[in-house]
Amino acid sequence: MFTPDLLHHKRILITGGGTGLGKAMAHRFLELGATVYICGRREDVLEKTAAELSTSGPIHALPCDVRNLDAVEAMIDAIWKDGPLDILVNNAAGNFIARTEELSPRAFESVIGIVLLGTLHATMACGRRWLKAAHSGTVLSISATYAPVGSAYVVPSAISKAGVEALTRSLAVEWGNRGIRMNAIAPGPIPTQGAFSRLLPRPDLEALALDRNPMHRFGTVEELANLAAFLVSDGSAYINGEVIRMDGGEFLQGAGEFTTLGRALTDEDWASLKPSKPKP
Ligand code: HXC
Ligand code: NAP
Repeated sequence: MFTPDLLHHKRILITGGGTGLGKAMAHRFLELGATVYICGRREDVLEKTAAELSTSGPIHALPCDVRNLDAVEAMIDAIWKDGPLDILVNNAAGNFIARTEELSPRAFESVIGIVLLGTLHATMACGRRWLKAAHSGTVLSISATYAPVGSAYVVPSAISKAGVEALTRSLAVEWGNRGIRMNAIAPGPIPTQGAFSRLLPRPDLEALALDRNPMHRFGTVEELANLAAFLVSDGSAYINGEVIRMDGGEFLQGAGEFTTLGRALTDEDWASLKPSKPKP
């Protein structure tokens, strides 16, 4: 399905598109024929990414702090002057590991402001315009595998991603009959400077994360970008209100009650546990 015209005529905004997964999605969407807008707080980072990716297609860099509703509205107005967006990717995030009891109110506000309110601001700004013009639209949000269950040491992010998934499922129903699709991806660890410097900042922590993954590897930005391309394309038009986990089975590794037997039992143990052959 990844023909070079898959996203032809699609106009896509990726929040946090200057780095990491956002940049990889921008690259893939351009390769597939889209016009891409990227936003973030650091203008120099955005301009550098836009210059680097411009050989693959039309890309525009718009500095914007998604925590600020007025700034988001102004950015969306500026984009709409060229024509309506077709797709919004809520990818911008803030996160770090910390003991929750040591977090200041500003630390909570900072992450919740980017992840939950930023997603809400951009979704509402696009959604209201799409509904008013009876224009179809697709929203894809980047969540995290801990959203449905929570996680110690990343509590502001866990709260926010859970809210993003609730928003996704709620609006999928409320807006689905008016041509707007809402989906999310929950990726497992994918090496990016932004995420790994804040969440797995030491080699031993990275090794722990690798060890708990059934596939014993991290995901790649290309794998994430391909899944995102599918989910925003018309090829997935009947997928609405879903959160697709892409983590090599890491989440399920934590869920299985007997999974740890794989470490505890040797080949000899397994042999001794087999029932003895019934006598003829
Ligand atoms: C405790 C911290 C902290 C830390 C910041 N704060 N870092 N508290 N531990 N490590 C506190 C500060 O002291 C301050 O509170 C408040 O948070 C705001 O910090 P600022 O630096 O002023 O905020 P700001 O410049 O807006 O930066 C936001 C940020 C930063 C979230 C703190 O990390 C950032 O810009 N992140 C963007 C990119 C990012 O996080 N990428 C990772 C996404 S990966 P006080 O009270 O002192 O003023 C992801 C998924 C991971 O989300 C899943 C992996 C498997
Ligand atoms: P990243 O490179 O740090 O990306 C975060 C982006 O968000 C940056 O470009 C950042 O740019 C932007 N951003 C932060 N605050 C912003 C704000 N207030 N307004 C606008 N933009 C803002 O990290 P990443 O790994 O690519 O993460 C991308 C997404 O994947 C996030 O939603 C993250 O939660 C999710 N995710 C990542 C992983 C992983 O392992 N990499 C796993 C699960 C989920 P500026 O700093 O210039 O604003």
